[in-house]
Amino acid sequence: MSCEKFVEFGKSVLASDFPHVASTGVIMLNSGSFGLSPKSVIDKKIECIQDFESYGDNYVRQSLLRQTEDSIEAVAKLLDVRPDQCVIVDNVTTGISNLLDTIVRPGDTILVNSWTYGSVKMAASLSSEVMTNRNSDETDVKPSSVQVVELDIELPIKSEEDIIEQVRKTLEQRSDIRIAILDHITSSTACLMPVQQLTKLCRSRGVLVVIDGAHAIGQVPELDIESIGADFYVGNLHKWCFAPKSAALLWARADRIDSLRPSVVSWLVRDHLASMRFAFLGTRDTSSVCAVSEAVRFVKQSCGGLARIQAYCSRLADKASQHLATAWNSHKLPIPANMEAPFMRLIALPKHLQCHKRVPNDIQDSLYVRISCSIIVDMDDIRKLADIIMKLTKDDFLSP
Ligand SMILES: Cc1ncc(COP(=O)(O)O)c(C=O)c1O
Repeated sequence: MSCEKFVEFGKSVLASDFPHVASTGVIMLNSGSFGLSPKSVIDKKIECIQDFESYGDNYVRQSLLRQTEDSIEAVAKLLDVRPDQCVIVDNVTTGISNLLDTIVRPGDTILVNSWTYGSVKMAASLSSEVMTNRNSDETDVKPSSVQVVELDIELPIKSEEDIIEQVRKTLEQRSDIRIAILDHITSSTACLMPVQQLTKLCRSRGVLVVIDGAHAIGQVPELDIESIGADFYVGNLHKWCFAPKSAALLWARADRIDSLRPSVVSWLVRDHLASMRFAFLGTRDTSSVCAVSEAVRFVKQSCGGLARIQAYCSRLADKASQHLATAWNSHKLPIPANMEAPFMRLIALPKHLQCHKRVPNDIQDSLYVRISCSIIVDMDDIRKLADIIMKLTKDDFLSP
């Protein structure tokens, strides 16, 4: 089938659908952090804000729940999951905090690792403090009753089996682990984790699995959330699925969905549908939730679907990372090709910019650039990045 009816990626879609990005003159090679929304999605968000601000009663009573349902239907269809197992939350941070509020019990041990995202790690460690404080007056519960175990991931990684083996060993050594938080794609190292195998391993030992899929929705080809087998899956829609900030999908396995409750208790907390329990958490801005359906429309009708986007972005990421490693006479992060995030890569900075003293974001004493290859960038942009970095001196680089 001809693709002519769909937008052309690179400069063309940047001009037609992202004029707000184009007008800044910024070459956006870090869209992995906060995502990108096309103009049509931002327009839809503004329309929702205007509806709420101009006639709030009508918006809350007539539109909000219907639009939330439409967005959930649209995203569930896109990802081939059941809508009644889906909830929309603000972001992965909120979703995981909420889940931990629901599932952590006194005496639990939670498994994270050295690449777990900071806010998620914080939520795990705080849940242990909250639980400890909550129980501190009770004489029959030991203080510090929730523990966090952090697995240290070491580079180089030679194969998925390296990671699986490290997790297996940890679970053997710590039979008290009850909850595992696993990233689908890690943030600072852009590593695609073998979540299906890891989940199987955890579940064979009775460990409940929460997947942090912050970067996965839209980026992982043929993502099949159900078949991963986890108890819960949380993924941002504002990173790689063109929704406005802030919108994320929280999915629960069929036998877990009834247990889902928002941490913020409001009117609909007893609704039989999980999506409704999370839909009205008091008076707040829900325009991003309502605009999710427009983001899905953009993916399907303007871009020609996730597979077309993925083919462009992953091919660009392959070419871009090779080009940068050659231009800088450096190397990519030492992980196997099948564990590289489809759209994001880490390339070591050239030698003259490697600092000798440790800086906060180094990875095992080396400094890397993480690039995000979205539909609005092309090899021209990558070549510019290659040149700019080569011209930097160590002093430019270290100055604030
Ligand atoms: C792996 C991972 N988890 C969680 C998050 C948090 O996402 P948010 O700030 O949208 O809650 C991020 C953000 O980049 C991430 O990369």
